[in-house]
Amino acid sequence: MSRSAHPAGPRHADVLPEGHYSAPPADLNVLDPKVWARTVARDADGVATVGGVDVKTLAEQHGTPAYFLDEADFRSRARAWRDAFGSDADVFYAGKAFLSRAVVRWLHEEGLHLDVCSGGELATALSAGMPADRIAFHGNNKSTQEIRRAVEAGVGRIVLDSFQEIVRVAHVAQELGRRQRVQIRVTVGVEAHTHEFIATAHEDQKFGVPLAGGQAAEAVRRALRLDGLELIGIHSHIGSQIFDMSGFEVAAHRVVGLLRDIRDEHGVELPEIDLGGGLGIAYTSGDDPREPHEIAKALTEIVTRECEAAKLRTPRISVEPGRAIVGPTAFTLYEVGTIKPLDNLRTYVSVDGGMSDNIRTALYDAEYSVALVSRTSDAGPMLARVVGKHCESGDIVVKDAFLPADLAPGDLIAVPATGAYCRSMASNYNHVPRPPVVAVQDGASRVIVRRETEEDLLRLDVG
Ligand code: LLP
Repeated sequence: MSRSAHPAGPRHADVLPEGHYSAPPADLNVLDPKVWARTVARDADGVATVGGVDVKTLAEQHGTPAYFLDEADFRSRARAWRDAFGSDADVFYAGKAFLSRAVVRWLHEEGLHLDVCSGGELATALSAGMPADRIAFHGNNKSTQEIRRAVEAGVGRIVLDSFQEIVRVAHVAQELGRRQRVQIRVTVGVEAHTHEFIATAHEDQKFGVPLAGGQAAEAVRRALRLDGLELIGIHSHIGSQIFDMSGFEVAAHRVVGLLRDIRDEHGVELPEIDLGGGLGIAYTSGDDPREPHEIAKALTEIVTRECEAAKLRTPRISVEPGRAIVGPTAFTLYEVGTIKPLDNLRTYVSVDGGMSDNIRTALYDAEYSVALVSRTSDAGPMLARVVGKHCESGDIVVKDAFLPADLAPGDLIAVPATGAYCRSMASNYNHVPRPPVVAVQDGASRVIVRRETEEDLLRLDVG
């Protein structure tokens, strides 16, 4: 379809139905640095670039859809977290947000630790040379084999999530003649202000051992009795995509309360406290995340104050940011396929990916931004819904966004802030192969996770 051949419809923003959007931005060509990776810019021809490489070249070399990751940005965010917390604290990158061997190497080089939550993540971490003692192993239902592999490898800590697991880990450690360092994950009863599926500290959910009713205190009693375990601290993770620090404040207050009770009952001051991850990032220009140094200052002050009040030595703090490190550093590049203007509604823009490379919109009603990146445009704004190619009407990538009204098939559009929980939650729905992850830096691009092929899919189907 040529650019002028669109049928009549809501190509301009004069008809605006109900939706999750504010007024169109003043200039659709501007790539707001709040939501785009740090090296993203437009070149003299108006084509967006990342790491000095333009998106048309990237699309030619790597195809679409694809995730492009700004390596310099990733490293600088990892460093910013490490520097913000300094030498008295440890930053564990949460691998579930996105993990690959290249990422593991970058994290190790930048002095971070790593949180893994499955045998697969553990294998990836170890195969890329992350020292085992810098790894924390999580999960609410670790298998005995996973526990064995973690203990054998010598992971720095296993985060115990249930009464059964206390016994299982102790048993495996004893069998292997080890004393495994562990933390106990507690649920502190905080209602985090985030989507229900990613809130984790209220009591009615599957993670951790509740503080309420004395269950956490009982878990501590049992762990302290077992020779195979060295209880080093208490862990709390209240949820994800959180902007408000008050939930962390309540969590720290309650965890320190437990540390005080442990001291009073057992005469032991546990040396560590982990406050989890969950710090929010900007998906749209309306989001205002905090900088790592502000978060570090706030968390350190909260813990120090609470410990002073409880007359405890301040424990070593650790945190587990995933999204806040990798989320902003990547965007997904798509090619526009079909364009359907619907009268008095919006224009449906179909791309060559969809819910298989970004399930977050369908699953959490997540908001994203989108921009035309293969050129600039002087056309007015058009209210668009970016949808994928899957056989499902919920296959929405960006629910409501403004794109230039002259958008045409073949244009490249990009969705920023897709570094976290997009590739890691990608699926093969409709047998669509998963896109590659390409790191870009200093004018060069490098595939770090290759594109899946139909052959890959057929290889698993053994007939
Ligand atoms: N630590 C623990 C124990 C966690 O369970 C998580 C996330 C993190 C750290 C890292 O949280 P972050 O800093 O990345 O928010 N799939 C959802 C997010 C699920 C998060 C699960 N746990 C999403 O796409 O929003």
